[in-house]
Amino acid sequence: MRQWRQILGFFRADWVHVAAAFGLLLVSTAVALFKPWPLAWVVDRLTQPAAGPEVGSGVRAVVKWASVLVAVHGLHALLGAAQQALVIHTGLRGLARVRRAVFGWLLGISLRRLQGAQAGDLIYRATWDTHAFQTLFQQGLFTFVGASLMLVTMTVVMWRFNPPLTLVALATVPGLLLVMKFFGPRMNQRAGLAQAADAGVAALVQQAVANLPLIQGFTRERTEAARFESEVDGALGARWRQHRAEVVYLAVVAVVFAIGTAGIVAMGAREVLAGNLTVGHLLVFLAYLAQLYEPLNQLSHVGSTVANARAGAQRVLELLREDDREIPPAGSVPPPFPSAATLEFDSVSFAYTAGQPVLREVSFQLAAGEAIALIGPSGAGKTTLLQMIPRFLEPDTGSLRLNGRKLSEYSRRALRENVALVLQESLLLPTTIAENIGYGRDHATRAEIEAAAQAANAHDFIQRLPQGYDTLVGDGAARLSVGEKQRLSLARAFLKDAPILLLDEPTSALDTESEALVLASLRRLMQGRTTLMVAHRLATIRAVDRVVVLNEGRVVEVGTPIQLQTQGGYFARLNHARG
Ligand SMILES: Nc1ncnc2c1ncn2[C@@H]1O[C@H](COP(=O)(O)OP(=O)(O)OP(=O)(O)O)[C@@H](O)[C@H]1O
Ligand SMILES: [Mg+2]
Repeated sequence: MRQWRQILGFFRADWVHVAAAFGLLLVSTAVALFKPWPLAWVVDRLTQPAAGPEVGSGVRAVVKWASVLVAVHGLHALLGAAQQALVIHTGLRGLARVRRAVFGWLLGISLRRLQGAQAGDLIYRATWDTHAFQTLFQQGLFTFVGASLMLVTMTVVMWRFNPPLTLVALATVPGLLLVMKFFGPRMNQRAGLAQAADAGVAALVQQAVANLPLIQGFTRERTEAARFESEVDGALGARWRQHRAEVVYLAVVAVVFAIGTAGIVAMGAREVLAGNLTVGHLLVFLAYLAQLYEPLNQLSHVGSTVANARAGAQRVLELLREDDREIPPAGSVPPPFPSAATLEFDSVSFAYTAGQPVLREVSFQLAAGEAIALIGPSGAGKTTLLQMIPRFLEPDTGSLRLNGRKLSEYSRRALRENVALVLQESLLLPTTIAENIGYGRDHATRAEIEAAAQAANAHDFIQRLPQGYDTLVGDGAARLSVGEKQRLSLARAFLKDAPILLLDEPTSALDTESEALVLASLRRLMQGRTTLMVAHRLATIRAVDRVVVLNEGRVVEVGTPIQLQTQGGYFARLNHARG
């Protein structure tokens, strides 16, 4: 029930359409009730010799009733088509709404949640499972209500002619409900397992696409094929179990119907012979019977379709329910701060998994406009520490302060708008180079983009590309070298022009000459901005005011490069080793 409420919530905005569709359903049901009558009147006229008119008027009457028959059927078809069209269109609009909601959810999830998810599974849910909402609206709601309505109105009409016969017709309904009750939950559960298995297959394909160079380079095609085979086998088994239940269910339903039909025919014939029913009325009865079984049959089919769709909808609702979006902090959100920002780590500890701390009581400060290089061995926690500043991660204990206020007092949005970020792994969107550079700023001009590219020493290589700044990058388009991507990321950060600069090894993939050129720009950029930069290369480290050395999540050395040089610690060893 709760699930249905959530599902229908996506159609609430279209309530006018929904109401209109229900109105059409009512009218078309009324017309459907009338459908067998013209034929019944004709038959009764032919089989009642008492009425016995001459042939000419009889033929005229038949022609008249035949025209009425065509008109009634035509009207019913027309109303049905209009109703269907309305329901389908509304269903599609609901689907679009669900997709928007899922995508919105996706944009708002935390990095930790994303790291814990399988991309393929998320994609499957966002694209395929969302269809379930449309199915449930169309089949679940309208077919169900339409069939129920037909069932009730026909029962009322039949009752007026022959209550005992009506009871026989209705006797199948409890049997059918019993069958549905038995098979419904089973089919639902199996459909859920089958969808999860399909999502697993999608995830594996996605992983293989992403890791193809690795797979081919290490010639692991057979291993991957075997892994895929077992995943596909699992999915096959799950789907097979689901469809097997459906097939058995439909067969059982057919048998229940057959028993019901046989009962009606036998009983109806007796009533006619006993003179309790005219042949015409028996025809109406039989026609209703066929029409009654149609909605019942629909309901039974709907049972399996709905079970399948509910499992899909469940998988989507599960995502939407785990809403870890930020509740904006109470009180006023501070406006963007002036360029000079102080940043303070106060005893910050953090663990991805409980009991395995990655940061341990980290404390240090960045003065306004200061540039600090964060160095330390791989796995020391440098990237983790950097990710705390835009609040991608939140400290377990301790706190970060920006301009003296706790980071948690700023909304993530306000915070991120004031941070320019260069990630360790350069991310590019599948669009043009110019759009990639201008990504962080709305309506960046071409001149601004080119200036940023110049500063990141990217302008020259961009100009050599076939379409220059309009070259498409990313999936299926121009591939860039790692160093080129890194320079585009830098240009993007340059253009954003934010008071806080966070750089995770911004020059690691550059040759010495490029690095020198980028560093010159970086020095200019760092003027008047608070900068935290993870770095390994000495030339880069020498560009900063102070160095913080992190080892196993602890701050082990802090000082100017010159101070640390004389202390003989990690930094001095680094200096020594690299000359
Ligand atoms: N998403 C994550 N889930 C669990 N553990 C993680 C996650 N990201 C990083 N870690 C672990 O946290 C520790 C610190 O990782 P981090 O990326 O901060 O190191 P780093 O200092 O940036 O290293 P590098 O110089 O290699 O980039 C590592 O032991 C790593 O395995
Ligand atoms: Mg790192």
